[in-house]
Amino acid sequence: MLKIITYPNPILRQTAKKVSQFNDELKKIVNEMAKVMLTKDGIGLAAVQVNISKQIVVLKDSKDYKVLINPKITYFSKDKKTKEEGCLSFPGIFGLVTRPKKIHLKYQDLDGKVIKEKNKGLEAVVIQHEIDHLNGVLFIDKAVKITQGQAELEKLTVKLK
Ligand code: CO
Repeated sequence: MLKIITYPNPILRQTAKKVSQFNDELKKIVNEMAKVMLTKDGIGLAAVQVNISKQIVVLKDSKDYKVLINPKITYFSKDKKTKEEGCLSFPGIFGLVTRPKKIHLKYQDLDGKVIKEKNKGLEAVVIQHEIDHLNGVLFIDKAVKITQGQAELEKLTVKLK
């Protein structure tokens, strides 16, 4: 199974490359990513978190999982909401992050078909968190307060210097 990269590994700061080939290899990567996410009880995972520098995100949904290839947010609502977030790359660490409540999303599916949709609630939060990963942005960069694991996070951050 793919291994999850944890903070402060510099891989997490890389910008992911656009996917241009919608082939069996892509399907295989997505499959493995979904397996890792579901096994680790995550609700979202970006490819960079398993050391694959591609714009791929998997999200847990009511049935199974959903795949976003080359996702882009085309609209952010002015209305914001602060929610507690965690991340598979930060085990045991949680923090409050303020993000726009509603977004418009554009992405491609596994066949390269362009899909546009509107998202709100928890889904909008997870999508924003995962797309941040594709740009090397982590939830601790945006957290207004760390609610769990502050000491652990400080230890990891010291290791960075
Ligand atoms: Co994350």
